[in-house]
Amino acid sequence: MTQIFLRTPEERDIPALHTMILRPAVQWGTGRLPYQSTDWVAERVLRPGEGVHAIVAEKDGVAVGWATLNRGRDRRAHVGSLAITVHDAHHRQGIGRALMTAILDLADNWLGLLRVELTVNTDNHGAIALYEVFGFEREGISRCDILRGGILIDALCMARLRAPHSYMTDL
Ligand SMILES: CC(C)(COP(=O)(O)OP(=O)(O)OC[C@H]1O[C@@H](n2cnc3c(N)ncnc32)[C@H](O)[C@@H]1OP(=O)(O)O)[C@@H](O)C(=O)NCCC(=O)NCCS
Repeated sequence: MTQIFLRTPEERDIPALHTMILRPAVQWGTGRLPYQSTDWVAERVLRPGEGVHAIVAEKDGVAVGWATLNRGRDRRAHVGSLAITVHDAHHRQGIGRALMTAILDLADNWLGLLRVELTVNTDNHGAIALYEVFGFEREGISRCDILRGGILIDALCMARLRAPHSYMTDL
């Protein structure tokens, strides 16, 4: 079995990550546009912005997965927003699981985040299953959240909390 390497994204990954975001299953499951430019990827790889952490999964020398964690600021500094993408041709090979394990280790044990949140299309059952494996819970629905091929899709808001009880409301 080919090994997967997890590392920080680099300039050389831009073409592979661009190819990945244009794949049909990635377009279906994420908010990427058809014809999304290489510049969109380059901007995120080369100038990710403050509070953005990213990991790519490399297989056979090519980046085939990408996870990002965007930390909030000020009173939301304990919160990270997570996004994850694996190339269509490499689904169900444990790459999503490896990326989730690594990015949540970063969130928990290096950044000390107390809440990690995400949104996912309500019909993206594979991604929802993956998130539930990692302890994400369903919090609510954003109706008509995103347009996909002429149809408005609802989004499921999910989060994983590690906040000490003393921080939480009694309500
Ligand atoms: C969702 C996604 C990241 C999963 O990545 P992956 O590498 O295929 O997932 P893994 O192989 O690591 O799967 C880990 C576990 O997640 C669950 N899972 C993943 N895909 C699943 C699917 N299609 N159906 C059911 N369960 C699934 C399973 O529990 C799986 O464990 P198993 O294979 O031992 O049964 C990937 O399908 C993807 O990138 N899709 C397109 C982009 C996207 O939708 N991103 C999410 C946006 S919110």
